[in-house]
Amino acid sequence: MEINRSGISCYTTGAIAFHWIVAILVLTMIGLGLYMTSVPKGSPDRAFYFNLHKSIGVTTALLVIARLWWRAKNPPPELPSSMPGWEIQASKISHAILYMCIIVMPLSGFSATQFTKYGVNYFGLFKIPPMGSENKIVYDLLQGVHGVIATLLIALVVIHILAAFKHLLIDRDRIFQRMLPGK
Ligand code: HEM
Repeated sequence: MEINRSGISCYTTGAIAFHWIVAILVLTMIGLGLYMTSVPKGSPDRAFYFNLHKSIGVTTALLVIARLWWRAKNPPPELPSSMPGWEIQASKISHAILYMCIIVMPLSGFSATQFTKYGVNYFGLFKIPPMGSENKIVYDLLQGVHGVIATLLIALVVIHILAAFKHLLIDRDRIFQRMLPGK
């Protein structure tokens, strides 16, 4: 947490960088995940997009771990006292579930690929071979978790963006601005 020139507590540069990098990666992963599953099975395009999704997903997982480590060392700034108690509670709960989703998404996706013959071909640079043997039932189960949490994540991202714009346009309490770079 940092205090700016107006005496308002705000996010550190590291927290802001992690927020936007992870946000861009998660949005890309949602779009890619939804798109690639519609590409015809057996086509080279499908293999390309699946590998891209897995590679960016593994990278996202590493950044999420780094972000959690950073957050543990740099607690977020306080919310303004003008905010009603229920809104503070709602923001804490929704942020906790958002973190849960961005942990479970790569974990379930990566675990599922352990039960295929493919593993992860990391950006074509090296292969992370599957640890398990091919098992369609376990794969479908883990991908079921991946799909359900993806739906929850999409709903929460929409709520998160709407809440951010409420702070910007209705509450005008600078909560929106304090997550912007170069504030
Ligand atoms: C933040 C990280 C991630 C997000 C947001 C994400 C998102 C998604 C979404 C939205 C889908 C489509 C789900 C559906 O239509 O049911 C999907 C499918 C998939 N994801 Fe991910 N994913 C992430 C990480 C990963 C990782 C790390 C891997 C593997 C290393 C992975 C492997 C897969 C696979 C194989 C599918 C296709 C499932 C199938 O149809 O068989 N994902 N992902």
